[in-house]
Amino acid sequence: MINQYCRVVFLIGIVCAEIIKAPSSSPFYNVVTECGAYGNGENDDTNAIANCTNLLTETGGVLYFPPGNYLLSRTIYLSNIVKKKHLSKCEGWASTILWTFDANVFEFSQQAVEITIEHLRFFSTNVAKSKTSAAMMFTSGLVRSFIFHVLITSEGNANAYPGSGIISKDVTDTTTFRDCLLWQITGTGIQIGYGSEVRIAGGRIIGIGNRHDGSIGIHVTGNNGGVHVDSTDVIGLETGLLLDMSNGQGSNREIFITQATFDSDNRGIAVNDSSYISVAGLWAASSDTDQIWVAPGQSNPLLVIAGGTIFNGGVYGGNIDCTTQCNGITVNSGSFSINGVDIRNNQGKGIWVPNGNVNNFVITGNKIFDNNVPYLFINPNAQYLFTNNICNSNGALVKNASFGTVKADNLGC
Ligand SMILES: *[C@@H]1O[C@H](CO)[C@@H](O)[C@H](O)[C@H]1NC(C)=O
Ligand SMILES: *[C@@H]1O[C@H](CO)[C@@H](O)[C@H](O)[C@H]1NC(C)=O
Ligand SMILES: *[C@@H]1O[C@H](CO)[C@@H](O)[C@H](O)[C@H]1NC(C)=O
Repeated sequence: MINQYCRVVFLIGIVCAEIIKAPSSSPFYNVVTECGAYGNGENDDTNAIANCTNLLTETGGVLYFPPGNYLLSRTIYLSNIVKKKHLSKCEGWASTILWTFDANVFEFSQQAVEITIEHLRFFSTNVAKSKTSAAMMFTSGLVRSFIFHVLITSEGNANAYPGSGIISKDVTDTTTFRDCLLWQITGTGIQIGYGSEVRIAGGRIIGIGNRHDGSIGIHVTGNNGGVHVDSTDVIGLETGLLLDMSNGQGSNREIFITQATFDSDNRGIAVNDSSYISVAGLWAASSDTDQIWVAPGQSNPLLVIAGGTIFNGGVYGGNIDCTTQCNGITVNSGSFSINGVDIRNNQGKGIWVPNGNVNNFVITGNKIFDNNVPYLFINPNAQYLFTNNICNSNGALVKNASFGTVKADNLGC
């Protein structure tokens, strides 16, 4: 017991010592011992924590939440904080913010805030949150920041679902969200504005499984490039990943999706701009409408998928009309290539190109099986390569025209 205690203290000492010994421009504020928070889950700690965050506006530094439950009853606003501050937690998720009210928890209005937030739990209680209420709201941007190992959840309490997780509305640049777990999201999990080099690495963003509630897992709102989604699960939302121009800054640019999971959404990945999307090792499964969807009317989205599985579209049934929905991949503009993917068990179409303007596409080396319709390309004059695929056990094999097209060396297609 004593050893364990010593080890804990020792570890904390190591983790915190560096910070404590940092130059006076980075002081260390313990919200309990220095600002009078109780952390007992009963007393309202809002004013104490607001006082502590105010210190960051004077000196910057580290805000430390010792293990405890910090009950907050209104938004904590942070602006004009001295750069390189740090909302810290040295002991995992023992530090919990009790989010009892329907508004943002932490709202940063400073331009392009730079921050590290780690090991903090937000536990949504008391009331269900609006979609617009977020655990962390950055109204004027987020740059060179690191948000790590944050948990946002209501622990399944249907009367207190959290709304949104982490929302960055303006410039969002050179920032990593690592191993963040966002559960029961009814609004948007992570929203990013314009900029570049944003990484969402690991972690999970999970909705309530409604799939038609307007929820979004990851929303890239326009003119962001070098966005990486790596080994993240995005499950049970209306839209898993949404790329669009809703911030008015034009199309997003390079989007990299690596070994990520989009499962049980209405749409797994929805491209509503002219992004260049590189996908490696995809798992996209069990979505209602489309696993992957590119919207009509976009000037030149380019979608490249290498390896993975697109599986089980329409499996949840209900009122879904699988004559137009339940699809594997549906491309309405631009162009695409897909190779080395298993496209299977979709109750609509495996690969669907319903728009005649989609051209110069390449479909090679895929296994296309157990779909209702394996593939359908509406424009018989489109230029495309469809080679070295294998098709089996599909419902209605569509061998439509192949004018001006190389369609060869397939088996059963
Ligand atoms: C917060 O700071 C104000 C002004 O210094 C002070 O009056 C108040 O008691 C502090 N609140 C808490 C909970 O410490
Ligand atoms: C796509 O973007 C347009 C506006 O550019 C919007 O009207 C439409 O609702 C969006 N669709 C989706 C599915 O987000
Ligand atoms: C094949 O292409 C023609 C010409 O575009 C179209 O009218 C027809 O509906 C297509 N067949 C199927 C099964 O979709």
